[in-house]
Amino acid sequence: MKTTKLILLTLTLGFATAALAQDAKLPPAADKKDVTYATDIKPIFDASCVKCHSGDKPKARLKMDTLPGVLKGTKMGPILTPGDSAKSFIVKSIAHLSKDRESWMPPLQNRAGIKPLTPEQIGLIRAWIDQGAK
Ligand code: HEC
Repeated sequence: MKTTKLILLTLTLGFATAALAQDAKLPPAADKKDVTYATDIKPIFDASCVKCHSGDKPKARLKMDTLPGVLKGTKMGPILTPGDSAKSFIVKSIAHLSKDRESWMPPLQNRAGIKPLTPEQIGLIRAWIDQGAK
């Protein structure tokens, strides 16, 4: 009986560690060709970002409801480097790789109840940036 419990505990810990390691990994870019803001990305931003990043007082002065707005970035400047998604701040932010948890987007706890992006959505955003953020 004791051995079974020990084995179960070891397995659980193992899975938990694997899950944590997975979390800290950058999802791969999607294979999809011709990814554009209009067709692929805007729907994701509309559902998960635009509530806070549009209008008269967008958070961090970042407007995400138009392509020019996204490319302009925040009050601090651009949030992405066309052609290099892995280095792009927006990707680090949505994949929870930036050191500062305050910049994890959408914010972990938000009143709007907006959930983190899925690895598939992050992969699509990566593909879009890698393909030039058109
Ligand atoms: C519930 C509101 C909310 C949602 C939803 C939201 N954000 Fe934000 N975002 C904020 C706030 C508030 C800040 C300002 C944080 C600060 O200035 O420290 C911010 C700042 C940012 C920044 C700048 C961070 C920095 O440290 O410079 C980026 C980039 C960003 N958001 C991207 C996104 C993306 C991409 C999404 C959607 C996937 C998103 N946000 C969804 C509220 C939100």
